[in-house]
Parts: sequence; structure tokens; C-alpha cells
Amino acid sequence: MQEITLNAPSAAAKIFVGDDALEKRLPALTTGQKNFVLTDSNVYELYPDLFKKYFDGTEIFVLPAGEENKSFPSLYAILSKMAETGLLRTSRLFAVGGGVIGDIGGLAAALYMRGISCVQIPTTLLAQVDSSVGGKTAVDLGGVKNIVGAFYQPREVLVAPSFLKTLPAREIKCGVGEIVKYAALNGEIFELLENNGDKLDDLAFLTDLIVACIEHKARVVEADEKETGERRSLNVGHTTGHAVELAYGFSHGESVLYGMLLETATAIEKGACEREYGERLLSIVKRALELAPVSTPDFSEIADCAKLAKSDKKNTDENTVKTAVAKRKNEWTIMALPFEEYAEALQKAARERM
Ligand SMILES: NC(=O)c1ccc[n+]([C@@H]2O[C@H](COP(=O)([O-])OP(=O)(O)OC[C@H]3O[C@@H](n4cnc5c(N)ncnc54)[C@H](O)[C@@H]3O)[C@@H](O)[C@H]2O)c1
Repeated sequence: MQEITLNAPSAAAKIFVGDDALEKRLPALTTGQKNFVLTDSNVYELYPDLFKKYFDGTEIFVLPAGEENKSFPSLYAILSKMAETGLLRTSRLFAVGGGVIGDIGGLAAALYMRGISCVQIPTTLLAQVDSSVGGKTAVDLGGVKNIVGAFYQPREVLVAPSFLKTLPAREIKCGVGEIVKYAALNGEIFELLENNGDKLDDLAFLTDLIVACIEHKARVVEADEKETGERRSLNVGHTTGHAVELAYGFSHGESVLYGMLLETATAIEKGACEREYGERLLSIVKRALELAPVSTPDFSEIADCAKLAKSDKKNTDENTVKTAVAKRKNEWTIMALPFEEYAEALQKAARERM
């Protein structure tokens, strides 16, 4: 088991990576007071023994799987059940699942009695490399992703890579979407991926990537927990990715990959990213898109979809779209483009690079 500490200004989080993490940490965390488990219907069905072994007698709330349930009505139902269960300030909420469960569970923990301990047990690759770490919690509202949320650090994150054995190939691809984001920002992860793209079904290799990504994220979040500076780098691919997610209905990780492709191609074109580095990054993105391939989307209307990027939380001026892009190895920058220019550039990138 490897241990990583994230000392954020608001609170410290301990992250444990290894298949023995649950065995080693859960017995101590589950005793002593009333606790609460949040999971989704797929994970609950796939892992009955886990819930029996560690959470027998604990209230288990099973949310139907799917992004559409990362919603206010679900949050209300979870909080109501927490109150009904009689949780106390000392209680813990265990969020066992992918990014949806981690995000809504983290927010419920932040809100209940103004904050109880949250333990994240991520079960998708996306959640293990990224969403369970860093304390961003949220639900979607009115068709806008993550518009209501809080920064709230989990007390512990227990990452057991063997959960990935039951994860469908397309969900592995979604997790690789976030790994590619780290590759864009971190030269070591870039090289690991560039040189071992054929090993993405190897659990030992994925574990190395998980640790590398978490370490990168932990250092960024320690420096800038509330995303006023360095943490904005973690939005590489995400401004356009979120727009693609809303307009075309792809899942988060796949949308990030399309966002990375379109934004990197645009950044090369506009001189915000060094061409040679950008082309290598594009090859990594394209290889990731070929994992569990789907038919290439029709992005001929992508300029319309750019309107969604305009309402991105990170924009401060409604006529400019700001995207975090890789500049060269280990360096990133903000590319600010007038809306019309951004929309045209996306259209061109979709035509020439897809
Ligand atoms: N908080 C953050 O920093 C952050 C970062 C990135 C993404 N996110 C959020 O994460 C969400 C996406 O996360 P996700 O991709 O994990 O989606 P998800 O939680 O919907 O999980 C994807 C699917 O995998 C299933 N699943 C989970 N674990 C499994 C397992 N071990 N075996 C088989 N199936 C399993 C789930 O039931 C679901 O059907 C989005 O809502 C996104 O906004 C948050």
C-alpha cells in the first residue's frame, strides 16, 4: 500500500493506494459510531461481499447509477436519509463508487451538520486517478454541470485498483481521458503514456499511473485549493469537454478526450502550444480515443456547441473563452480567444483532426 498526504489549507487528506488499502484502513474507520454508505446500483450489485464484510449493519443508500442522478433531488434524498438515520457530527460518510457517487457524496458530507468526515472509495479509473482526490464536490443543476458544490476535502481516500477488473472497457477509456490530462501537464506521465500506450489493460501499469496522477494533483491542490491559480491547469481539455458532454451526451472522460483533441489542435494553430509537443500530445489523445472505439461523432455543428463553453464557470467576460492548454513539456498556459475565433477554430480542428 502506498500513502500520499495532501495537506490542503482547509484540511489534510490521506490517500492510500493498493489492494490492501480497504483491509488495512476500513476496520478502524467503521467502528465507534453510526456511519453512512453511499453507493450506486451497479457497484452495489457487483460487490455484495464488500458491503457485507465492512458495512454490515450500516445504513447503505443505493443511488441508481448514472450522471442524471448527480442532482438536487438525489442530494435531498441522501441528506434526508442521513438525518433519519440519526448521524452525528462524528459519523462518517463512505462514498463507494465512481465520480458521480464521490461528487454527490462529498457534497452531502460537506452539508450535513456543516460537515462530517468523508471517506472516498473510488471504484472507476476516472475516480481513482482524479475525482476522489482534491475535494471538489458538486451536483448538476438546470443542465449545467457541477454548478452547485463545495470544496470539501475527504478525510481519507482508499484506492483499490482491483475494482478496475470489473470496469467495462469504455469506462477505462474515460479514466484514460483524465490520465491524458495529467500527461499534458506532467512530463513523466506524458512519457509513461507515450511509451506504454499498449499496457492500459495491465493493472500494475495502471496502478503506477494512478499514483503518479494523484501525486501530481495533490501538489497542485496543496498550492491552490480553491482554483484561483495553478489548479486551473487541471481544466486542460475540460472547457470544450464540458460543452461536448452537454451537447453530444458523451460521458465525462470521453468528452475530456474530445476536448483535449480540439483544444490542443487549436492551441497549436494559435501558437499557444509548441507544435512538436502538441502533435505528440495529439497522438496520445488519438490513441486513447481508439480504446473502446465508438463511431466518430459528427462535429459539423461544433461551432454551435461552443456557445456552451461561453458559459463555463472559468470565464469572466462573456465574449472571451478561456481554456487551460499545455504549452510545452511541464508547462501550461491560459489561451484566451474571442468567442467567434474560438468557435471557428473548433470547427477547423474538428474538420481537419477528427
Ligand atoms: N470532483 C472532481 O474533481 C471530478 C473530476 C473529474 C470528474 N468528476 C465527475 O465524475 C463524474 C464521472 O465519473 P465516472 O466516470 O466515475 O462516472 P460514474 O460514477 O457514473 O461511473 C461510471 C459507470 O461505472 C459504473 N461502475 C463504477 N464502478 C464500477 C466497477 N468497479 N465495475 C463496474 N462498473 C462500475 C458506475 O455504476 C457507472 O455506471 C462526472 O460527474 C464528473 O463531473 C469530478
